[in-house]
Amino acid sequence: MTTKLNISQTDQVAHPRSVERLVSGMATSDGAGVKLTRVLTQPLQRRLDPFLMLDAFLSDDPSDYIGGFPDHPHRGFETVTYMIAGNLRHRDNAGHEGLLQNGGVQWMVAGRGIIHSEMPEQEEGRMEGFQLWLNLPAGEKMCPPWYRDTPASELPGFVTPEGVAVKVIAGVSHGVTGAEVRSRTAPLYLDIHLPAGQSFAQALPAGHNAFIYVYRGELRLGESAVPEKKMAILTNDAAADGVVLKCNVATRALLIAGQPLNEPIAQHGPFVMNTQQELYEAVNDYQNGRF
Ligand code: FE2
Repeated sequence: MTTKLNISQTDQVAHPRSVERLVSGMATSDGAGVKLTRVLTQPLQRRLDPFLMLDAFLSDDPSDYIGGFPDHPHRGFETVTYMIAGNLRHRDNAGHEGLLQNGGVQWMVAGRGIIHSEMPEQEEGRMEGFQLWLNLPAGEKMCPPWYRDTPASELPGFVTPEGVAVKVIAGVSHGVTGAEVRSRTAPLYLDIHLPAGQSFAQALPAGHNAFIYVYRGELRLGESAVPEKKMAILTNDAAADGVVLKCNVATRALLIAGQPLNEPIAQHGPFVMNTQQELYEAVNDYQNGRF
């Protein structure tokens, strides 16, 4: 599913966005003691609307991940799990099951409610990946839940004439349509692998909120450096038409952008609604077996 682009197919960006600020994220644990870095934390939800959370996990030590994420609920948003290395078994209360593996993506729309587990299916070796939470518009928060697994072999991607390899997890990049396209929030989610000394341009609508997370190497955006394991929030500039990434060393980064919902955000753990009343209803429905 990898397309080789010629030069006429690549995005041209005349006025690139710059870096507004760098974010280090917060070391924490979730599920049954899984160690991770919460890169996009709750205080950034408004700034990075429609995105609610980004967790990065990377460990070669099984004690950091073996507990996994036993049965837990979600309501009101979407989760996107992208595995770089390792095996994660997903099971839900509707009887669905899937195995997430190296380079694969699971897109889940929790909608009105799902209860699932995400458990490692390995006792040694590396576990590395990301989980992104994407908000649902008010009118879709109570939609029926669904999910889709896309293995690495089916994940759309392309290679630029400069040798930059891009996986398109969501949205459209350089004419290549990703594994998922969502209408209201129009998320763009790219995993970009740049060889040393190369650059990559991506067109972005000016109104979309956008950020980058560097997970190997180091990027340069104009005058700013974005070191490994840092998130860069990109400026919103009405005159900007995209972003240009450059690097001196081989670098891998996620580029994530989306159209803001501009709706109230009310969160209680794994429930994200618009009002406190809806959160009470979510907890009540969950406790009374209505998921
Ligand atoms: Fe979950």
